[in-house]
Amino acid sequence: MKAVFISDYDDFPEWEPRLKSLMPELEIADWRAVPDPESVRAAVVWKPPPGALKRYPRLQLIQALGMGVDYLFADPELPAVPIARLVDPDLIAQMSEYVCLATLHHHRRFGEYEALQRERRWQLLPPPDTSTCRVGIMGLGEIGTDAARKLAILGFPVYGWSRTPKAQPDVASFHGADGLAAFLAQSQILVCLLPLTRATRGIINAETLARLPRGAYVINAARGGHVVEADLLAAIDGGHIAGATLDVFDTEPLPPAHPFWNHPRIRITPHIAGLTRAATAAAQVVENLRRLHAGREILHRVDASREY
Ligand code: NDP
Ligand code: OXD
Repeated sequence: MKAVFISDYDDFPEWEPRLKSLMPELEIADWRAVPDPESVRAAVVWKPPPGALKRYPRLQLIQALGMGVDYLFADPELPAVPIARLVDPDLIAQMSEYVCLATLHHHRRFGEYEALQRERRWQLLPPPDTSTCRVGIMGLGEIGTDAARKLAILGFPVYGWSRTPKAQPDVASFHGADGLAAFLAQSQILVCLLPLTRATRGIINAETLARLPRGAYVINAARGGHVVEADLLAAIDGGHIAGATLDVFDTEPLPPAHPFWNHPRIRITPHIAGLTRAATAAAQVVENLRRLHAGREILHRVDASREY
């Protein structure tokens, strides 16, 4: 099996020995050092530059090194071959931790206590009531389902919104375009865990933000393209939205002059809500390479018509 590794984020010298220890017959090279593009059957990728994948005329599989694959569909020259994504329990757990942390940080008023500490003020704020703080999760997939379950264990009433109906214990579910307004009306803390597709781009905008209860808080750990950044800023500055925790942005890295950096009610992290670790993910990549080699169905295949 010949494969190419294309990522400026994942460390090929770390990945190569892990992959080869699980599949000694694998021949895999960094994309800058592939001697014969014709021989490549599989590409193991994270955000390959547009056009990079078309260099391999006999490609049979694109194996993503993350859970989201939106960047692939942004490539106008994407080869028409099966795409598989990671569904990695370690990454899912990291994502749920991020969501629970951001939710609790806001809910327990830690931002306000940090401001009080900077002023050396010993001041108690009224305690929040978890049992009445409704958290709405957009996207009840691998990550949303896990985050919803963990938030429910913490005692939050949890609401979910997905494309198709769900029946998850402890989650009041809404679905489809018809269910969106009612879902938003419940969401005092809105968490975005959707894939970025042509149907979800810009879904957090002036209109949807206005449907959230006054004082709602926004957490986006999915993709920057879900949020119309100017609309979010206007909603926060106008007082309808209390603030936001954002891990992902339209342009990454976030440009130095971007207003999010210094905004007192916006907390940002540099797309670290969940990071792929070779130690846990390599086995899944190898499993798919083996399946490809054996002509078997690959795991976690993306539906190209839906883009997720
Ligand atoms: P899944 O594909 O497992 O789940 C996606 C969910 O979104 C499903 O419930 C799906 O509904 C729902 N959905 C999709 N399209 C729509 C729509 N048009 N309207 C309503 N609901 C919709 O995704 P994951 O949980 O694995 O991952 C979600 C995203 O998280 C990834 O795509 C990625 O962008 C992001 N991510 C971010 C990371 C970070 O570090 N910041 C790390 C990992 C992932 P249905 O079930 O009905 O199909
Ligand atoms: C992913 C990510 O999609 O890390 O896996 O953003």
